[in-house]
Amino acid sequence: MQKKPFIFVSQPIPENGLQALAEVGRTEIWPHKKLIPRAELLRRIEGADAVVTMVTDQVDAEFFKAAGPQLKIVANYAVGFDNINLKEAAARKVAVTNTPGAFAEAVAEHTLALLFAVARRVVEGDRFVRNGEYEGWIPMAFLGQPLWGKTLGIIGLGRIGAWVAEAAHRGFNMPILYADERHNEDVEMRLGARRRRLDVVLRESDIVSLHVPLGPTTRHLIGERELKLMKPSAILINTARGAVVDEQALYHALKSEEIFGAGLDVYEHEPKLYRGLEKLPNVVLTPHSASATLEARSAMAEIMASNVRAVLAGRPPLNPVDPVA
Ligand code: GLV
Repeated sequence: MQKKPFIFVSQPIPENGLQALAEVGRTEIWPHKKLIPRAELLRRIEGADAVVTMVTDQVDAEFFKAAGPQLKIVANYAVGFDNINLKEAAARKVAVTNTPGAFAEAVAEHTLALLFAVARRVVEGDRFVRNGEYEGWIPMAFLGQPLWGKTLGIIGLGRIGAWVAEAAHRGFNMPILYADERHNEDVEMRLGARRRRLDVVLRESDIVSLHVPLGPTTRHLIGERELKLMKPSAILINTARGAVVDEQALYHALKSEEIFGAGLDVYEHEPKLYRGLEKLPNVVLTPHSASATLEARSAMAEIMASNVRAVLAGRPPLNPVDPVA
């Protein structure tokens, strides 16, 4: 009898994904919500035919060596794949897949949640009330930024950016500017979005929301120079990848109130923050949780499992990743 393929999953994921994997192989799952220590990961993947990785797992030469030459697929349980060395994977003929399209709405909702929290100072207000500092209505306290009809600048108008644009335009009458290497004709037609150079988008937008993948051309896309182009009343939202922004430059821009505020779900050196960032009142911070709804995570699980199933059955993967330029 043929041996069942061995599938290792580096974090607990929704049941639908685990069930689908169990139908095609012998699965082992790191059972704790705490991240798997690196040495443990390297030990546990030995002999695996498929490994389901998280964005927190570095998939590099050491990883591939530890797994062994029988490894057929690394199924990243994520849309982003900047944690994976694609050259090493290609050299070893290991398929790499992601979960595109599974959670664009969820991330778009979280982007707007951060935007509203920053603009209307929701977290600051919450802390103020909890601390017992609220003594009554004050006309000039907690003044925020109105959002109705404000210009939204989207950097990277792919699936997630398009959902953010749609919700902001239809719900809050926001004109949309965007910077992207590619035209998004659909969004231009439906929402009247206008494509401009990055500098123009930064200068003319009231809100700048980042939706690019992390790669050599997008690392520190937003640094000191770019932050200085933004309006003093502007808000920056990052639900993409931390290193798209120079976090040190952002810290200084927020501290000196060069921009109004920022909403961040991702950090340059996750899980660490640039020192002092957490003390600033004009930034709202969430723990890389933009896709955290059970619906979105189950949809990701479904896509991930169908890729594992295909590759272990000798078929091509359904969602091979496209290298980021
Ligand atoms: C999460 O950050 C993802 O890329 O899926």
